[in-house]
Amino acid sequence: MARLKLGVLISGSGTNLQAIIDASEAGTLDAVVAVVVSNKAEARGLQRAEHHGIPAVYIDRLAYDKPKDYNHAVLEALQDHGVDLVVMAGYMRLLGSEVLEAFPDRVVNIHPALLPSFAGANGIHDAFDYGVKVTGVTVHFANEVFDAGPIIAQEPVVVAEDDTVESLEAKIHEVEHRLYPHALQLIAEGRVHVVGRRVRIDPR
Ligand code: GRF
Repeated sequence: MARLKLGVLISGSGTNLQAIIDASEAGTLDAVVAVVVSNKAEARGLQRAEHHGIPAVYIDRLAYDKPKDYNHAVLEALQDHGVDLVVMAGYMRLLGSEVLEAFPDRVVNIHPALLPSFAGANGIHDAFDYGVKVTGVTVHFANEVFDAGPIIAQEPVVVAEDDTVESLEAKIHEVEHRLYPHALQLIAEGRVHVVGRRVRIDPR
């Protein structure tokens, strides 16, 4: 069977992208990154993609009058590379309905907290400042509301007494880099089904 083609959307450092590329190259993830799209020219993830011979596309929101036109450009980049599954990995924009409608139940996101707690751009800091004893990582399908789609996988991370926000951040990223490729592999195996709000995962 052909390997699942991923289109990864980023805005920044791209360490999750790197984990996905590494898993793909190691053969533990039965998928290939077909294209990386960034809305930031300086995103380090673009260089990571190039380093692995993966097409890397920068699309500037300001080059388009309307969000709709920008979203169409993103959609075109994904479709031009035959993408099956859209993977948001630190993409700091709400994904346009143009893309969501073209990929129904085929857009995933990772969030550095246990949703629905601490949604938004600062999940790690917000959880730390709140003083929770347990936080974690969530992989979920994306919809038109930030951090709100059906949950595919979650893993808890305990906040230790001596944790700082930086040490917590490091723990969260370590889990992310394992959990995201794992969740993508479940999708690649065809075991993930959206049933209303719930995601059903077929046993092996
Ligand atoms: C990750 O913490 C992810 O959960 C959040 O944005 C961050 C992206 O980091 N959505 P990176 O660009 O993958 O290093």
